[in-house]
Amino acid sequence: MKVFLGIDLGTSAVKCILVNEQGAVVGSHSEEYPLSQPHPGWAEQNPEDWWTKSALCIKELLKKTGIAGSQVAGVGLSGQMHGSVFLDEALQVVRPALLWCDQRTGSQCEWIEQQVGAKRLGELTGNKALTGFTAPKAVWLKQEEPELYARTRHLMLPKDYVRLQLTGQFGMDMADASGTLLLDVANRRWSREVVEALDLPMEWLPPLFESNDIAGHLLASAAEATGLAEGTPVVAGGGDQACGAVGVGVVKSGIASVALGTSGVVFVHDDSYQVDAECRLHSFCHGVPGKWHRMGVMLSAGGSFQWWKNQFGYEELQKAAQEGRDVYEYLTALAETAPLGSEGLLFLPYLTGERTPHPDPKARGGFIGLNLRHTKAHLTRAVLEGITFGLRDSLELMKESSVEISELRVNGGGARSLFWRQMIADIFGYPVVTVNSTDGPAYGAAVMAASGVLKRDTSELCESWIQVVDRVEPNPANSAKYEAYYKIYRSLYPTLKETLHQLTDLAVKS
Ligand code: XUL
Repeated sequence: MKVFLGIDLGTSAVKCILVNEQGAVVGSHSEEYPLSQPHPGWAEQNPEDWWTKSALCIKELLKKTGIAGSQVAGVGLSGQMHGSVFLDEALQVVRPALLWCDQRTGSQCEWIEQQVGAKRLGELTGNKALTGFTAPKAVWLKQEEPELYARTRHLMLPKDYVRLQLTGQFGMDMADASGTLLLDVANRRWSREVVEALDLPMEWLPPLFESNDIAGHLLASAAEATGLAEGTPVVAGGGDQACGAVGVGVVKSGIASVALGTSGVVFVHDDSYQVDAECRLHSFCHGVPGKWHRMGVMLSAGGSFQWWKNQFGYEELQKAAQEGRDVYEYLTALAETAPLGSEGLLFLPYLTGERTPHPDPKARGGFIGLNLRHTKAHLTRAVLEGITFGLRDSLELMKESSVEISELRVNGGGARSLFWRQMIADIFGYPVVTVNSTDGPAYGAAVMAASGVLKRDTSELCESWIQVVDRVEPNPANSAKYEAYYKIYRSLYPTLKETLHQLTDLAVKS
């Protein structure tokens, strides 16, 4: 049996899966690593942890499945996007990587927009300067840690560091490169104009690939560390959003996906490059060669629910541990006991600031409308409703750009709950479907590996491997009730913005 390995380098763990030539997942394994938050708003990880845990994860997966390294015909990588890996001449890590959810670069973003001109930046890169993106992190290093900047010779994204350890080759795919703010997204090449305007060295940037291009072959040292065979082809892969979309078959127009991970993403495929004048949505290259996509990204979707579980889900955590079940099953069951709209309670999910539609590192969350009748069930439901309203904001931007959508494919942890899928269908007003592949970005990475090695078209492989298994229709009566709540939800951020900023500033000072 021949298999393909998909590696997804997430924010809390790396997940590896093996997929056979019929598209079936034959095994999966995960390994966790820590995230450090040395100051409020900062988020860092150590790239060496990514590599040691990825190697361990592959080794354990091969052991668990009894599959020999020589049976792995190709490797694909997906990864958390935007993170900055700075390496010196000897390819040593210069400092911990700043992650996609790190918010320290507000002033660098303003500087970038002045330097290039906000309009020109949008024309060249399809995007605004956002704190999560990579270029502001490189500017931060130059301004705040000049000695480390002077030592730096290479800049790359998280999964590209792992590919470098696997193959010894530098490289970056177009999809992930789009999130650096240094790519000419329309023309699929580095933007010399932006790189020079920011006075960053062009030589820092790796060669670019399409996601299914073979970007290197496994080194003997990596074969030793992972149990794979030396010389195994490794494709470029993609950022986790492009890989996740390929992993659920969002490879043609009309289908959108909603990814419920730590972040929450509404994603549509574009056959040609599309951008709105104000760059309110991200316009990126897709993981399908020669195609593009747009997406809206909220920073704390599953992340808000996880925070709620960690702080207030003690009883559910205990029950889940006793019965060997998933804690989120208990929390969504509790939410379901509260009425639609949580009896006049709204939750703002901006726990780590926000990106779409409010690019604001100082936005913060909250419960609005509490009264004495509210119980934990109401608050839990309000958290889920608030996250879903936040996602609906991105859908509204797509509607304003006349994007045609016929169905939404939901993936990520949140997709497991029928209750939440129905809520999404009701709040979005579209049918919500799930597909047979449930491994999201790791599955997309395996598709890209198979596409590159077997020389099969990525979209054609998705069509033959991925099928819809469940469909939830919106309930018009519920949609009408949610509409009234959504209207109020939308009014809250503009009303509260200044107050949220003041609170954020006070929290930093105290
Ligand atoms: C996408 C983004 C997040 C991270 C999470 O732009 O920032 O989805 O990739 O892993």
